[in-house]
Amino acid sequence: MLFLRRFPVASLLIFYRPFASSATSTSSVGIIDLILSEHQHMRDEYEQLKTIDNTKELDSRVRQWIAYIARHGHKEEIAFYPKVEKYLKDEQKGAHHLIEHGIKEHRQLEKELKKLAEQSTVGEKQIHKSAAKLIHHLKEEESDILEPLRSKLDDKFQLALAQQFNDADRLASNKPHPELSRKPEKAPQDNIDVALAEKQKDL
Ligand SMILES: [Fe+2]
Ligand SMILES: [Fe+2]
Repeated sequence: MLFLRRFPVASLLIFYRPFASSATSTSSVGIIDLILSEHQHMRDEYEQLKTIDNTKELDSRVRQWIAYIARHGHKEEIAFYPKVEKYLKDEQKGAHHLIEHGIKEHRQLEKELKKLAEQSTVGEKQIHKSAAKLIHHLKEEESDILEPLRSKLDDKFQLALAQQFNDADRLASNKPHPELSRKPEKAPQDNIDVALAEKQKDL
């Protein structure tokens, strides 16, 4: 499948994970830039997907893309949203609403990603549908949550949150879970429980 043929060699690019997170790594990048770099990776990867005409390669890259997006959202719910809600209290839309809305959008995005993951061969239409939800969420999260936080969190705290975000990698699922709670109080533990159950199944 080919959406655009403008970058014929792009499909040779290796899938990479910017500021690769792991339970053992120490982040030298603050949480805002870390999250932004992961957002950029999701957008870049979508652009690359449009250039791939080999069905098998596209399928594999899309599945890695889904896993990356799912894991990113779960890490935010476990280790980012709960930690920053109080710093957003002065925002016009209200801190709780902002976080609740972010989680609601994660679930909507996960619904589309799950449909995509369940296709035996990933389809162009569903990739675009998922990307539309993704881009919408990234934009809102960046303007309503990340930008206001940049001036409110000092460097030391941003580094500490980045470390916790990286550590949440081992608690997070690679799979979209649209059925998880939309409530900010319940979502972190729901995330941990579902990933734990998955990991036990894989043992
Ligand atoms: Fe995000
Ligand atoms: Fe998010």
